[in-house]
Amino acid sequence: MAGSIFSLQSKTAVVTGGGSGIGKAVALLFARQGAHVHVLDLNEENANTVVHEIQQAGGQATAHVVNVARQKEVVAVFEKIATPNILVNSAGVSHIGKLENTPEEDFDRIYEVNVKGTYNCLYAAVPLMKKAGGGAILNMASIAAVVGIPDRFAYSMSKGAVYAMTLSLAKDYVKEGIRCNSISPARVHTPFVDGFLAKNYPGKEQEMFEKLSQTQPIGRMAKPEEIAGLILYLCSDEASFITGCDYPIDGGFIKLNN
Ligand SMILES: NC(=O)c1ccc[n+]([C@@H]2O[C@H](COP(=O)([O-])OP(=O)(O)OC[C@H]3O[C@@H](n4cnc5c(N)ncnc54)[C@H](O)[C@@H]3O)[C@@H](O)[C@H]2O)c1
Repeated sequence: MAGSIFSLQSKTAVVTGGGSGIGKAVALLFARQGAHVHVLDLNEENANTVVHEIQQAGGQATAHVVNVARQKEVVAVFEKIATPNILVNSAGVSHIGKLENTPEEDFDRIYEVNVKGTYNCLYAAVPLMKKAGGGAILNMASIAAVVGIPDRFAYSMSKGAVYAMTLSLAKDYVKEGIRCNSISPARVHTPFVDGFLAKNYPGKEQEMFEKLSQTQPIGRMAKPEEIAGLILYLCSDEASFITGCDYPIDGGFIKLNN
């Protein structure tokens, strides 16, 4: 049941990348708070599983299979949704490598999903939010947007762009009642992390997992649910005075690693 604080009762929320990790935790939490959640994901099976889980718990959800990098597909999905009150841009991909290990195809792939995918969803959602008199947008940046992280050249580029788009959009639509913020997590234990450990450190996954856990002064990675809690706050009416901000949620990574 939705409580009175942080209630999303009668709101329509769109969560990209809602089939896995942080997006999945957001979709489940938003549904518990009363929102109708539209799960947008490239992975049909995962999107359907999340929607099924929400419906089994008595919530409302709809799955949409979409590649956020394709503007036509994205616009068509948002036209169906019609009145998105909340947009959470969580779909994203990673790449490990410094400049010299970043071939053009990897740079383009990261740009297409993390930068253009975010832009496409903003492009489709904002006119609908304007028509409805406002909305709340949450973009997924990263500590990599503001701190030099080793071997994350393309990824850092993409998250810096997400951060800058957040400020630009917040400024341009503040009078239209649209709030736009971003968050910058450090490492969060999701399939995203497991996937890149398996791909980039085969046979050394556990060792690297421990190493990455210790880079957060708090001594571990975040849980997706901890990230979803901050996102709920920023997208709720309780955060109505907050726009154009980026919130680190990083176990002390940015300020305490000295
Ligand atoms: N996990 C971390 O440590 C961490 C830290 C900081 C920021 N982030 C950011 O958080 C976001 C979510 O990460 P996660 O850890 O939950 O990852 P995840 O891999 O668990 O989930 C990402 C989801 O996005 C979907 N997706 C990927 N490309 C897509 C596309 N083109 N169109 C539609 N859907 C697509 C995937 O199918 C997947 O369901 C990403 O933007 C990531 O950069 C993650």
